[in-house]
Amino acid sequence: MRAGAPARGRRDRCPDRTRRPVCDACRVSKPRAPRLAAGRARTLGLPTRGTTAPNRLRRIDRWILDATGPLLRGSVEPLVVDLGFGASPVTTVELYERLRARCPRVRVVGLELDPERVAAAQPAARPPGLTFARGGFGLPADLGRPVVIRALNVLRQYPEPAIAGAWAAMTARLAPGGLLVEGTCDEIGRRACWFGLPAGEPAPGWLAAVGRVPAGPTLTLAAHLPSLRLPSELAERLPKSLITRNVPGQDIHRLLAALDRAWLRAAGRAVFSPRQRWIAAVGELRADGWPVGGDTRRWRLGEITLDWPVPSDRPPPAPR
Ligand SMILES: C[S@@+](CC[C@H](N)C(=O)[O-])C[C@H]1O[C@@H](n2cnc3c(N)ncnc32)[C@H](O)[C@@H]1O
Repeated sequence: MRAGAPARGRRDRCPDRTRRPVCDACRVSKPRAPRLAAGRARTLGLPTRGTTAPNRLRRIDRWILDATGPLLRGSVEPLVVDLGFGASPVTTVELYERLRARCPRVRVVGLELDPERVAAAQPAARPPGLTFARGGFGLPADLGRPVVIRALNVLRQYPEPAIAGAWAAMTARLAPGGLLVEGTCDEIGRRACWFGLPAGEPAPGWLAAVGRVPAGPTLTLAAHLPSLRLPSELAERLPKSLITRNVPGQDIHRLLAALDRAWLRAAGRAVFSPRQRWIAAVGELRADGWPVGGDTRRWRLGEITLDWPVPSDRPPPAPR
């Protein structure tokens, strides 16, 4: 063997973790990183690193319970899908426990593209309430129609043109009045941003009769307030479809700038608590004409939920 030539199997131990096609140290061509295929295959996607952590999705789960609790409790088949649960099923188990406390009949199914992750999750299953299966955006054909699909930290890894197809595939499978919750958060769940995207079919009439008028599409930003310096820090966790739009002239950029200004104006409230400061800032945005939903009951959790996209009859207000 030529001196310095790579030994058999060296490729597996290649020290070069960069994306260069040839390693400088061992001169071995590295296997190409998998690429998303075009067309339908792109919608089906690829397994990714699977990073997750306990309690990471608590802010999203709390919001899901508030937004969909009545529909889940009133549904004959209260099915919830956690799409892309990752290398450990921990956040799916947490979702199940949180929902089950308020809706004992709930059935949660964790889906993954990666079959090894599905196999590794089986010991955590508690059938029939909590199960794990292989599946992607199209959802397995025999699954039924979920009231909620939670897809957190999944689409962030896809190219932007794939987002609309993935949303369409998932919302088409929702039960009437159901909700796709799609977004991104940081590693420990202190910053999170997500969309609430309703099913194409309207909610059953009884939902309005119990005083829960279903929302249209929404965007929610949520933060751990004691560690928040400026609301625009949330830009790092925007869902994929908003990242490239966070530039001057776009609504998401105006929103973050308006929140920053209101947060700075409310600095005096910080002596009471960061929560009081956030409530004042969000209240100011609503007073200024932003389509902010909810009330202090939600705002005090460090949340702001808005109709999104901003309705065309309610253009974002000019800065004060
Ligand atoms: C970063 S992990 C997110 C884990 C968990 N949802 C969380 O937020 O902590 C993303 C997971 O989504 C999976 N994934 C990617 N595309 C998918 C798809 N189309 N359907 C199902 N799972 C998918 C990946 O295999 C990966 O395990």
